[in-house]
Amino acid sequence: MTTRALILTSSILGEHGQSNALAEHFRHEAAARDGLTLTVRDLVAEELPHLTQPELASWQAPADERSDEQRALAARSDDLIRELKEHDVVVLAVPMYNLGVPSQLKAWFDRVLRAGETFRYTENGPEGLVEGKRAVILTARGGQYAGTAMDSQTPHLKGMLGLIGITEVDVVFAEGLAMGEAHREAALTEAKQAIAGLVERL
Ligand SMILES: Cc1cc2nc3c(=O)[nH]c(=O)nc-3n(C[C@H](O)[C@H](O)[C@H](O)COP(=O)(O)O)c2cc1C
Repeated sequence: MTTRALILTSSILGEHGQSNALAEHFRHEAAARDGLTLTVRDLVAEELPHLTQPELASWQAPADERSDEQRALAARSDDLIRELKEHDVVVLAVPMYNLGVPSQLKAWFDRVLRAGETFRYTENGPEGLVEGKRAVILTARGGQYAGTAMDSQTPHLKGMLGLIGITEVDVVFAEGLAMGEAHREAALTEAKQAIAGLVERL
């Protein structure tokens, strides 16, 4: 059986981005494994704008009553949701910027977390509608926060994924990348070993 993985990168540093290097390592390991196909999307190149009221309104308008402009706006979200649903695993390569996620990645989540499409509100609270998927987070950070209250990024990402029903999430941390060369090399080596193990198990 084929497993389809969607890799989303979001570093603004292009080929110098460490999270991009982790994504590249994921690709490298995946190439050596049978039955794993990859789609790679660079969310920085994608240039998704901030979510605005007209785009939100385009989702709320019945599909057959949308203006041309609304059809174009709704297509952004429709296409990204369709792409997510076509894959079994979503791999998020995530730099930490200012204790959070890059706004480019947030713009992707803003289109994919859509009431009535990927989750719904029930009397028991929100319920995810994206079933049978798992996620892998590859995160690169200058400092070290994993397992502490300062790591607001991991719960935020898991919360957004969980809202739509993706609750099986593995996280690979490459931390302390600004804490000296030796530390950085050790962290990247450890992260790459963790990625190899993860790809093996997908
Ligand atoms: C604009 C900016 C903000 C950053 N903010 C943080 C931060 O809040 N905490 C941290 O540990 N590192 C921070 N860093 C360091 C990055 O997490 C680190 O350089 C990491 O490698 C970024 O991933 P990337 O190389 O894939 O872009 C920041 C870097 C930049 C460029």
